[in-house]
Amino acid sequence: PDEGYQKTYRSFDEVLPTLPPSKGWWLDQLFHYHGFWLSTFALRGSMLLHDHFKPRPTDIIVATSPKCGTTWLRALVFSIVNRHSFDFSDHPLSKMNPQELVFFLEGAIYIDGSTSFVDGLPSPRLLSTHLPYSLLPKSMTDDASDCRFVYICRDPKDVFISKWHFANKLRSKHLPPIALEEAFDSFCKGVSHYGPFWDHVLGYWKASLESPKKVLFLKYEDVKKQPSDCVRKVAEFLEVPFSPEEESKEMVEEIVKLCSFENMSNQEVNKNATRNSGRPISNSDFFRKGEVGDWVNHLSPQMAEALDHITEQKLQGTGFNF
Ligand code: A3P
Repeated sequence: PDEGYQKTYRSFDEVLPTLPPSKGWWLDQLFHYHGFWLSTFALRGSMLLHDHFKPRPTDIIVATSPKCGTTWLRALVFSIVNRHSFDFSDHPLSKMNPQELVFFLEGAIYIDGSTSFVDGLPSPRLLSTHLPYSLLPKSMTDDASDCRFVYICRDPKDVFISKWHFANKLRSKHLPPIALEEAFDSFCKGVSHYGPFWDHVLGYWKASLESPKKVLFLKYEDVKKQPSDCVRKVAEFLEVPFSPEEESKEMVEEIVKLCSFENMSNQEVNKNATRNSGRPISNSDFFRKGEVGDWVNHLSPQMAEALDHITEQKLQGTGFNF
């Protein structure tokens, strides 16, 4: 790598020992960096992104806090933007997991150690990120930059339960599962990947109010309730609205069906549960229940109340509600 990259690697090595650490939910530690808890992976990816990523005006970024519906939103955005390129009966989403179609930005940069992979993608690039809005480079968030973000949030109680299940899948088989109470305590303190969860949501919420043409803010629960309306909203936001002909061909409904939990979780590619040491996650780990309100099956009324109380405090005066 050239001198520019060497400089970023050196900054990473210098900054890491100065950051307050905390225990992660699976093997790795999390580090407190500019108000957020990041793994070394996300931290290094974020620093490389800052120093080297060149956004394009046509970039579309799916932004989420983990477990809020990244997989679903990736599928929806991909199928909306590419609806003229593929036949619904033989669609890439039947053969590939959405993460192979909408690339994980900081992940791809981290793995390459450079931006060469993302630089090589044709426009319009569909990318995704878990990074908080405030940790993205100005070149992406400035009003002068035209790249657009579609963000999805979800009830923190469901996010927590989804995360807890996911963490236990990711934890090494040599470790006992992380207890619900331990994970709950960490989540409430804001200590979770890319957390505090509420700050992540509020960063994008504020950006969507300030720059509605740049950031579209969605809720998992709304997409569940009225998926067709959400698909139309995303298409309008991305300036590819559905034409009357497309509406009469029920293209919106086709997309909703294609991306539904039932359809996607039943694709062979997403049933694949193989893991390897390089990639401890398998496609099937991204599909669990896909429901609203599953928290009732896991959280005691006291825990739910405690989490709701934190949420209420965090959201006070922001004009935002889950
Ligand atoms: P649950 O664990 O509550 O089932 P992410 O993709 O951000 O990692 O989020 C994963 C969550 O989204 C999981 O929630 C998963 O089941 C759910 N999910 C995945 N695909 C979905 C889809 N097509 N529709 C609705 N929910 C989906």
